[in-house]
Amino acid sequence: MTTSMILEKVRVELGERSYDIEIGTGNIVTVGARMKALGLKGRAGIVTNDTVAPLYARAVTDSLTDAGFEPVLLVIPDGEEYKTLPWASHLFDRLLAMRFDRNCPLVALGGGVIGDITGFVAATYMRGIPFVQVPTTLLSQVDSSVGGKTGVNHPLGKNMLGAFYQPEFVCTDVATLGTLPEAEYLSGMAEVVKYGVIYDGEFFKWLEDNRTAILKKEPDAVARMIKRSCEIKALVVGQDERESGLRAILNYGHTVGHAVESLTNYTGYRHGEAVSIGMVVAARLAHKSGLCGREVEARVEALLAGLGLPVKMPALPPAGVLAAIAIDKKSEGGKVKFVLPTKIGEVVITKEWDESVLLEVLK
Ligand code: NAD
Ligand code: GLY
Repeated sequence: MTTSMILEKVRVELGERSYDIEIGTGNIVTVGARMKALGLKGRAGIVTNDTVAPLYARAVTDSLTDAGFEPVLLVIPDGEEYKTLPWASHLFDRLLAMRFDRNCPLVALGGGVIGDITGFVAATYMRGIPFVQVPTTLLSQVDSSVGGKTGVNHPLGKNMLGAFYQPEFVCTDVATLGTLPEAEYLSGMAEVVKYGVIYDGEFFKWLEDNRTAILKKEPDAVARMIKRSCEIKALVVGQDERESGLRAILNYGHTVGHAVESLTNYTGYRHGEAVSIGMVVAARLAHKSGLCGREVEARVEALLAGLGLPVKMPALPPAGVLAAIAIDKKSEGGKVKFVLPTKIGEVVITKEWDESVLLEVLK
């Protein structure tokens, strides 16, 4: 028998769209009962991929059946290259063929790719059906399953098509990280470090002090860092759901990170790895621009490197990086906004950065 336990709950406060993130071990088996308690019922589509399905689809299917749902498994291939409109359309075809109606919920079972495409399908199928996030990567547990950014990629840009659409709740089972490849776990750690830099200096210090426990995946340390990450994301999203201001701080490291990802054709680096490099570049840009002391850059770089994440810019032509940055969708009036640290735990969002300083930093 599986012992299941909810260790922690974090609330995302968004008025009538508020929801809970439940963080536990073995709690994946409670997803059906929790959905039922929220008033969901009937047929439910479990969207997952061919890597995650053999690991966790059975537990979720059984949980839904036990709670009175009629679950249907919808499996797509594993990979960022399937987070596309054609694969969303494939899911629409399946839902329409099964005559799913407006009340039939979807369950996103997997990492950020599955969460993003399932959320997008849920947001747009019949103008919106309920969906639940069951994130199974560290990155999705601390970031992508929370906050309602959903979407798919377009050949001309990542995440270019999407919607803000919140889940009914998030069921985070820390035990699923047990099967996650090490490199994927570390990729998620980049987003965890991000929260420390942008919002919580004490949390950053805690990460520095508990690096060994984190690398050993000690359950208490892992649950604690997931909870704190979700709390920070929930606080930010609760104040600025649609990124008209504050939410942009969550993009720390992502401006250069996205450029690194696109210039290496999304095959050179995992998202978190590229963000790790981007965070170091942004800290260096902040230091060279006189916004923070050298120790900020040094601590960011040391923590990320100590966690086994890449911190050095790959050999890419700086002009190409600048061009890739310029098409970032977070630009405003043609000038890209950078999130730059002023100290550990505090950042500013600014268009006032000097291209020559950035070029120097990129070398
Ligand atoms: P991913 O979804 O590709 O998962 C990484 C790999 O781990 C995949 O091969 C997956 O099949 C496998 N996997 C998942 N769970 C597993 C488990 N428990 N055991 C074994 N293998 C498992 O990648 P990701 O890092 O989770 O997410 C990246 C995606 O998230 C990108 O598309 C990115 O754009 C998106 N993202 C979205 C947001 C948001 O706010 N919506 C935020 C950050 C990133
Ligand atoms: N991952 C950035 C955001 O959710 O806003």
